[in-house]
Amino acid sequence: MEIQFSINSEWQSLAKAFIIFARTDFGGIPLSDAERAYILKQLEDNNLANVNRYNELLFVVYADRLKDQGVFREQCRRAGNEIAGVLKKEKIGGIDVYFGDADSDSSIALAEGIALGSYQFVKYKTSAETILWYPEKINFAGNFISKTAIDRLSAMVEAVFIARDLVNEPATYLNAVMLANSFASMGKEAGFETEIFDKRKIEDLKMGGLLAVNRGSIDPPTFSVLKYESPNAKNIKPVVLVGKGVVYDTGGLSLKSTKDSMDYMKCDMAGGAVVASVIYFAAKCNLPLNLICLIPSTDNRPDGNAYTPGDVIYMHSGATVEVLNTDAEGRLLLADALSFARKYQPGLVIDIATLTGSAAMAIGQHGIVAMGTADESVFRSLKRSGDNVYERIVEFPLWEEYGESLKSDIADMKNIGSREGGAITAGKFLEHFVSYPWIHLDIAGPAFLNTADHYRTKGGTAAGVRLLIDFLMNMA
Ligand code: BES
Ligand code: MN
Ligand code: ZN
Repeated sequence: MEIQFSINSEWQSLAKAFIIFARTDFGGIPLSDAERAYILKQLEDNNLANVNRYNELLFVVYADRLKDQGVFREQCRRAGNEIAGVLKKEKIGGIDVYFGDADSDSSIALAEGIALGSYQFVKYKTSAETILWYPEKINFAGNFISKTAIDRLSAMVEAVFIARDLVNEPATYLNAVMLANSFASMGKEAGFETEIFDKRKIEDLKMGGLLAVNRGSIDPPTFSVLKYESPNAKNIKPVVLVGKGVVYDTGGLSLKSTKDSMDYMKCDMAGGAVVASVIYFAAKCNLPLNLICLIPSTDNRPDGNAYTPGDVIYMHSGATVEVLNTDAEGRLLLADALSFARKYQPGLVIDIATLTGSAAMAIGQHGIVAMGTADESVFRSLKRSGDNVYERIVEFPLWEEYGESLKSDIADMKNIGSREGGAITAGKFLEHFVSYPWIHLDIAGPAFLNTADHYRTKGGTAAGVRLLIDFLMNMA
């Protein structure tokens, strides 16, 4: 799917969207009295009205400027998503967003909602009735919008679509090697470097966590290193983004039951898809930053050679871990990536992972669980970005006491802690492997949806992409 954004004061499409800030003030929108009355009626209990003139489809969006900026923008995105639904139904392939009286902020958010809400994954649909309908062209019919803002919006939408596509792809068509190859093509297109470690190299590096999880797989593991360096970088020490790349999680010998818990586990590489899409954005937009992404990848399956509960493994850091549940696999490969990250002397490391059902149980699909050792100011900045793009974060504590349940009788640590506070005990496990400012993001709740949440479409949502993009742009 590709959506073209443009700035042209002349109308381009059959459909036009206007934003208003008072339910009864239609400013310069060309309307007949009858249309005006019709729209007023629709806006009594709705934020979106439309008038179908047969050769023209007008949308009027009411946005409440009194709300805080984050909520206000979200309102515009959601209205955009509703518009996308109508465009699809009416089979209209483009729209003009008019912002005569509106500010560029609201029209960008509206366009963002139209674009993100139009996403569909139709690769495996073979019937003719599923022809893809979406607004291929979104035109800003106004003067006060910058080319940079449009280019960034376009790159951001592209980044979200790439991440969603990767998450929605079944593991049969996206094993660890294929995932790494996808990163390489993204790098070629956007302009970042990719280095893919194969099994031999991973063995040389003694990444025992990743290798243990991979033992039950018929496919080799990969460890992808993506690098984007800007000559004008604002950060001397690189920001390292680590993403969980488990292309399918059966639980291994600690097998998940299929219904509910295994059905959607192709989404377990969502963190990897997110960080790759974020560096894709950074490279496309030439952000003045130094960025590195690390994505350890494999599937997690039971097999004759699979790692077992009771095993002790040697991690990349040299630490030993007693495996007591092969379904707590994410932390094992993330730990290897986190200790590997040390060599870059990073200023900040953020890992993002569909790590625990516990995070999803705690806050559901509407937020991202965060914890870490970075300064309060970094958390504040991340929180601000979360509010801004409506991928909100909730900070969980890493109190010492939570670490106690990770003690092992025979090794340095166990890979599972107490069930209570499970998202935190997973974080405590990871903390053991970091030696720099660090933030851990658990996206098990929002990464994959079974029913759409406005423009967060069904299936892979790319949760975390817009959060990290906003955060990095503020840094740059
Ligand atoms: N990939 C899962 C977590 C997950 C759950 C992701 C729901 C997306 C939606 C992870 O590897 C896992 O299995 N975690 C276990 C850990 C437990 C065994 C300590 C969990 O949360 O049950
Ligand atoms: Mn698991
Ligand atoms: Zn997993």
